[in-house]
Amino acid sequence: MMNNKINLAILFGGASTEHEVSLSSAAAVIEHLDRSIYSLILIGITREGRWLRYLGDEDGIREDRWHSYPDCTSAFLSPDRSMKGLFELVGTEYRFTPIEAVFPVLHGKNGEDGTLQGLLELADLPFVGCGSLSSAVCMDKAIAKSLIEAEGIPVPPAVVLTAAQWAAGDRAGLERLPFPVYVKPARSGSSIGITKAHGPAELEAGIAIALQHDDKLVIETHIDGVEIGCAVLGSEEELFVGVLDEIELEGSFFDYDEKYSLRTSSIHLPARIGDTKTAEARNMALRIYRTLGCKGFARVDLFLSRDGRLYFNEVNTIPGFTAASRYPNMMRAAGLAFPDLLNRLVAEALNKRPEGLNNRARGE
Ligand SMILES: Nc1ncnc2c1ncn2[C@@H]1O[C@H](COP(=O)(O)OP(=O)(O)O)[C@@H](O)[C@H]1O
Ligand SMILES: [Mg+2]
Repeated sequence: MMNNKINLAILFGGASTEHEVSLSSAAAVIEHLDRSIYSLILIGITREGRWLRYLGDEDGIREDRWHSYPDCTSAFLSPDRSMKGLFELVGTEYRFTPIEAVFPVLHGKNGEDGTLQGLLELADLPFVGCGSLSSAVCMDKAIAKSLIEAEGIPVPPAVVLTAAQWAAGDRAGLERLPFPVYVKPARSGSSIGITKAHGPAELEAGIAIALQHDDKLVIETHIDGVEIGCAVLGSEEELFVGVLDEIELEGSFFDYDEKYSLRTSSIHLPARIGDTKTAEARNMALRIYRTLGCKGFARVDLFLSRDGRLYFNEVNTIPGFTAASRYPNMMRAAGLAFPDLLNRLVAEALNKRPEGLNNRARGE
């Protein structure tokens, strides 16, 4: 019998501090992908960076048991364009499975930062999400902020500090920044390695922590207000935007625990910022998406200060993707249910014309 299904590879896990987050996202993606359309090829990447083909179900991924399944085989994607697919090592033989599209459900380093995207571009394999350049730019908060600032979009006052500068006693203009400040590894995610400093002692401690994660830091002034998220889907000409959300914080900041427990913070969907600010935030998010060369999808995060000013915070090119995550929720609120969102993302990757969506950002 002919098999008309799309051979879709899902990459999950990853040699990243956000490995666990990826397991949750990937389990949700696998659970909601329509098996009458896709034939799934699951590829797990361990924390150490081993690639394994996985034949089990999504619970094994969610519960992080997947890598101990006895039928896992060593596997890798070929960079060779004449052999587009997965090679598995079975004893001394190899097995080849053709692949038509890849959905990297990986967060942070080695997955969301352009490295993997570079491999997929080399292989000429269509994939979901931003390309290598845009992924790399969005991963680096220092570079993303300087490009956005050059576009005339406000960014919080910040300095960039390298490990070498710090070691040499160069404070890079830090004394000009008013407290409180956030000390961030330039390439971080899920708030890992980020601290908030209210004075010089906390600043020094925060720098030491952040330097354990990266040799380049962004230190920036706290914007008093709320955080606004904007889910964007599509490429240049045709962009679809979700309903904006708002994060209201009771505690210190949206740190790793808060992001996945929501103990003291709440997410408001839609954001309670009125029509004018909503339109302004939406347009700013689209400008940011285009400026940073995003395609496929991304979540653009902004701050709205108490005095009504919008600032760029960051772009997440592979945002959290469980069925309860912000990006899918914002899209659902705009009429795009999770399974349809997944279909749309794969169609984007395969360059098929999107259908049935009327919320086009064109001409705004
Ligand atoms: N300039 C700032 N003003 C207010 N809050 C901030 C600022 N920078 C960071 N934060 C807080 O820290 C969190 C994590 O920072 P962010 O830059 O988004 O890093 P990550 O990539 O880890 O999500 C934000 O969600 C926000 O709660
Ligand atoms: Mg963030």
